Amino acid sequence: MFSAETYKKRRQILKEKLGSGVVLLLGNEDSPMNYKANIYHFRQDSSFLYYFGLDMPHLVGIIDIEKDEEIIFGNELTIDDIVWTGPLPSIKDLAAQVGVEQTMPYKKIDKVLHAAQAERKTIHFLPPYRAINQVELSKFFNIPFDAVSQHASVNLIKTVIDQRAIKSAEEIVEMEKAVNTSREMHIAVMQMAKAGMTEKELVGKTIDIAMTHGGHLSYPAIMTINGQILHNHHHHHTLESGQLVLGDFGAETSMRYAGDITRTFPVDKTFTDRQKDIYNIVLKAEVDCIAALKPGIAYQQIHLQAASIITDGLKALGLMKGNTEDAVEAGAHALFFPHGLGHMIGLDVHDMEDLGEDLVGYDEQIKRIDQFGTKYLRLGRRLEEGFVLTVEPGIYFIPDLIDQWQSEGKYSDFLNFDKIATYKDFSGVRIEDDILITNDGHRVLGDRIPKTIEEVEEERGRLG
Ligand code: GLY
Ligand code: MN
Repeated sequence: MFSAETYKKRRQILKEKLGSGVVLLLGNEDSPMNYKANIYHFRQDSSFLYYFGLDMPHLVGIIDIEKDEEIIFGNELTIDDIVWTGPLPSIKDLAAQVGVEQTMPYKKIDKVLHAAQAERKTIHFLPPYRAINQVELSKFFNIPFDAVSQHASVNLIKTVIDQRAIKSAEEIVEMEKAVNTSREMHIAVMQMAKAGMTEKELVGKTIDIAMTHGGHLSYPAIMTINGQILHNHHHHHTLESGQLVLGDFGAETSMRYAGDITRTFPVDKTFTDRQKDIYNIVLKAEVDCIAALKPGIAYQQIHLQAASIITDGLKALGLMKGNTEDAVEAGAHALFFPHGLGHMIGLDVHDMEDLGEDLVGYDEQIKRIDQFGTKYLRLGRRLEEGFVLTVEPGIYFIPDLIDQWQSEGKYSDFLNFDKIATYKDFSGVRIEDDILITNDGHRVLGDRIPKTIEEVEEERGRLG
């Protein structure tokens, strides 16, 4: 946990920016796996963590801006609870740790909210992403379950986004820890993988390291010989000589800041020439796009730069043809690069995505481009000092997509389908790092993670 001063300052800024009304922030509840007492590992809501810091279930925070009053609602343990949990700090002691003086039992929320409503104060809340909090809000405000998100406060959403988007020095320390633990996981996997092993053995290693450092994975690991399946969460395959392994995984720190790193390496100790050709295009896209990052530049432009580099590289291999600018404008590159270049990262791996992708990643000046591939870009807006984001280009050969586009003759001015057909068994390559935007440019967070062909082959033990 940060100091009480940090949380007090964050709430003070929120109050000043919002100006009036009452802010209601719901923490998360424990969530049952298969029966009530058998629970998933607890993950606190990130905005609650940001303003109230307490990482445990069944808490609610209220900030009454006009009264300048802050309250944490939660229940003290009974002796029956203590038999199971052991003694834990009181709600009052917990609240004091984050600079909140007032506490009340959970059931008093209704009364406090109704009093605020009677005084005609606006009650600001964020859109819920868990059904249990949606039910709570529906009951608090007597609004239909399905209508809850429509009543969320756009003012509060925008204010929270403005604040959380700019990472403070102490948050960057945490994010760097997340990346360095993620780095340790990636290096361990690169060192241990070999033909005959299963993907799940590699995933087990990542979980081991993340938990040893006090957190969990920051999202379900992608560890796959089928890298062309973008969010592939199956881990049952056995690695075979000649294949690539795409590993997209990261650690969450004990304070819940996320790392999100991708590396791709050969099951053999060295890449084949064909793998090197594709890998080096992705590497150039990643390195050149990172080099271009600075305050003021639109991330949408960086995404399109990645698309151009990929198109140029694939033209050199005879997989694409025609004018690069025209191909990218038409969207032909998306056969190989059908996702966005990156996203904000912080307490959430896709930071604040629960608050609305467009509100986080776009603004009045830069709107989402509605074209296959580029429409999945989560971040398009101009970058600001203090943003932390991912850069994660990839090239994939997706047999179903290739077949469909070929049968439709889609973008045949730019795509050499005969040649592309010979790559249908290639799978995919993605490379990803986490980057801080600084006042005059950028900084890749964490220590270097093997990335060039030479570095990856060295880690794979080519020299050993
Ligand atoms: N790490 C998975 C993603 O960015 O979607
Ligand atoms: Mn990512």
